[in-house]
Amino acid sequence: MENNIRKIGVFTSGGDAPGMNAAIRAVVRACTYYKKDAYGIMRGYEGMIEGDLVKLGARSVGNIIQRGGTILKSARSEEFRTAEGRKKAYENLKAEGIEALVAIGGDGTFTGLHKFYEEYRVPSVCIPGTIDNDLPGTDYTIGYDTATNTAVEAIDRIRDTALSHNRLFFVEVMGRNSGYIAINSGIAGGATGIVIPEENMSFDQLYNLLGADKETSKKSNLIVVAEGSKIGDANTLARKVAERSSYFDIKVTILGHLQRGGAPTYFDRVLASKMGIAAVEGLMQGQKDVMVGIKDNKIVYNDFNTIMAQKHHEIDSESLRIAKILSI
Ligand code: F6P
Repeated sequence: MENNIRKIGVFTSGGDAPGMNAAIRAVVRACTYYKKDAYGIMRGYEGMIEGDLVKLGARSVGNIIQRGGTILKSARSEEFRTAEGRKKAYENLKAEGIEALVAIGGDGTFTGLHKFYEEYRVPSVCIPGTIDNDLPGTDYTIGYDTATNTAVEAIDRIRDTALSHNRLFFVEVMGRNSGYIAINSGIAGGATGIVIPEENMSFDQLYNLLGADKETSKKSNLIVVAEGSKIGDANTLARKVAERSSYFDIKVTILGHLQRGGAPTYFDRVLASKMGIAAVEGLMQGQKDVMVGIKDNKIVYNDFNTIMAQKHHEIDSESLRIAKILSI
């Protein structure tokens, strides 16, 4: 492995995700293992612009693998979108002698870092950390498994009360433009219907799933709605059903940010640990403008331009097929 790089900066940016701390820990400990200095950059690009850097050692990342959120804090920086902002950031890194970067975040984070690489040629590796699982080039992003498990737990609880009162519940889950959390929490939670942006389900098709006009109709129903739904959010869909039929006693629950917190699952901790080490080793091998991913359980390095050209992480058709059969 090439060993020229001596100081590596690590930061988290965009929406936090459970497992980010495990990734920070892995990056810092891999640096220690390979005798590199690790610097934490606080609040993502904001801290880079302000020069808010903190030296990290193996012990400073103890007792964080199980914690949600991010010890480095996170932000969405408007200033880094400007050339002046990026110049300030570069000058701060240079002043501290930081020669390479590891970013943990989502597509907004990576787009910023790619631009930065093109301008200043600071070797950079991105680690996909977002609950949305919306990045191509990896089967899983850090935080997605935890968030989906959290959603399933919530759906199970809602089901108890839905059944007790014969109610129709619309449960809205996060995911931005991606239906990953919805499709898999919906399948695992036994939802009657799952509304995701990737599938062209019409409102009529959804309404028919409820079986309001049939004698066989279910007494209680639970519909999982992805926040990126193209036929309306949970409140809108609930209102439209109520307008069409008085058969249902309807309630809406929006899970929101509770899906972002909490202890990461074992899966996210291990994924984050693998990716954190891979990021440092990638830099040592000369990777420069890439995103680490996991494909068929193997670490891969994706060229940034290839990733961005793909735009979206498709939902596999098998999941859609399964959801359809089970909603009968
Ligand atoms: O990208 C992660 C995510 O939680 C999305 O699922 C959601 O749409 C968004 O961030 C919410 O962002 P914020 O925390 O800024 O409201």
